Amino acid sequence: MKTNIALIGFMGTGKTVVGRRLAEVTGKDFLELDAVIAEKAGLSIPEIFRREGEAGFRQREAAAVAEAAGRRNTVIACGGGVVLATMNIVRLHESAEIVVLTAARQVILKRTRQDGATRPLLAGADPAMAVARLLAERRPLYRQAADVTVSTTRRTPDEVVLEIRRKLQV
Ligand code: S3P
Repeated sequence: MKTNIALIGFMGTGKTVVGRRLAEVTGKDFLELDAVIAEKAGLSIPEIFRREGEAGFRQREAAAVAEAAGRRNTVIACGGGVVLATMNIVRLHESAEIVVLTAARQVILKRTRQDGATRPLLAGADPAMAVARLLAERRPLYRQAADVTVSTTRRTPDEVVLEIRRKLQV
């Protein structure tokens, strides 16, 4: 039986906030993959991108996914790019129900506006363009990976948690 819940979705869809709350109310452990990656590396996420490039970060991310998928009874909040490697999704599916959080593009832009310093992929001159491009590229991947999908547009984290629980019956 799958006892993990993996939260995936674009940057700014609330995976960390919702995941923490969901873990609290379901009595599961909480794991944020980016935090695990940063702690293991002894470097912040932007620093990993600077030193090792996106490819280096993706390798670390794949290793963190493999380890997290081996846990039980854990809410796993994944980074937005976790869908880029099919193997990550295969591994997560083995032990987790996969919940995709979505938000309207304008909402994502608003929520991530100040985040250039912490989100390397949005640190360029035109974050709106980056969001549009990445969203177009990833939407089909999120859709394909999803067991359930929950919109976070115009919803509080608690409302999102309720809908996840209703859809997953947890
Ligand atoms: C990324 C999302 C980030 C982080 C890294 C790359 C992405 O996580 O893993 O900056 O490729 O979408 P959040 O989705 O938690 O911001």
